[in-house]
Amino acid sequence: MQPPDSPVTSLDFVKVTENAALAASRWMGRGERDIADGAAVERMRETLNCMNIAGRIVIGEGERDEAPMLFIGEELGRGGFAVDIAVDPVEGTNLVANGLPNSIAVMAISERGGLLHAPDSYMKKLAVGMKAAPFVHIDAGVRDNLEAVANALEKPLSDVTVVILDRPRHAQLIAEVREAGARIKLISDGDVDACIATAVPGTGIHVAMGTGGAPEGVLAAAAIKCLGGNFMGRLEPRNPEEAERAKAMGFGDLGRVLTIDDLAKGENVIFCATGITDGDLVRGVRFFGNNARTHSIVMHSDGTVRFIESVHRLAARPRR
Ligand code: FBP
Repeated sequence: MQPPDSPVTSLDFVKVTENAALAASRWMGRGERDIADGAAVERMRETLNCMNIAGRIVIGEGERDEAPMLFIGEELGRGGFAVDIAVDPVEGTNLVANGLPNSIAVMAISERGGLLHAPDSYMKKLAVGMKAAPFVHIDAGVRDNLEAVANALEKPLSDVTVVILDRPRHAQLIAEVREAGARIKLISDGDVDACIATAVPGTGIHVAMGTGGAPEGVLAAAAIKCLGGNFMGRLEPRNPEEAERAKAMGFGDLGRVLTIDDLAKGENVIFCATGITDGDLVRGVRFFGNNARTHSIVMHSDGTVRFIESVHRLAARPRR
């Protein structure tokens, strides 16, 4: 990803999610999800536009949310190394608006063609960390997958924790996980963070299951590619229009299982996330005096994983 003629390194990209998180965090707990999102989008765009890249957005915001967009196809940067970019400036807009944990600013970058242009639809997802990676499959039964994870982690099934979005559509899944004897952490939003947490030892989260946004699936797959776990997805259009749109985008077989190599096939994939509110993966933005502290994870598909704590001196803000 860093050719000899490019001054851009994976560490440069963390500024993008740091700036987005700083902008969104000003709106934490204020009940204004779109304003928080818009602030992060603008800062992300500004920061990317200062970089020596020829960037192209392949996963942006918009259609599903009708939120302020970094729109698909938008070109960013001063020119230079050609990259495809997947963004979610605020993953968990409701979490920020309501001051709840696990909201992050997220971005994945790859050489051109390295990140799947997923339709703005839903995706069924299964994510696990490295040890359990070879033993699970999205088509296997819930109990079979959970037993495989428990065996791989050498834990009793009752110690395996599964993260699931708290949605009525998951009633059956939740019942099956409980019946199998595993524990469930229900989350109100933010399945990218949850999927990644399965692949980071020490988070206490072992499996993520259920259906969420398809673009978020690409971001999670990019992260897990760097961390070395397993992510599998399958598109689940919610209506005939979404199915048609997916087909028009080249998804002839909607039932196809999408692996990490389908979703993030780039040879060089970089993933960055910065905490907006405190979470399982990274801590949220903290303000002190005229400074702010951010906590980020930056990873490369060569297997480098960095946690970065940064202090930012802020421009003086007018007193009210
Ligand atoms: P936003 O950041 O756009 O608010 O999305 C949050 C999220 O919870 C994702 O993490 C998840 O994939 C998706 O929404 C689930 O969609 P829905 O709320 O429609 O169930």
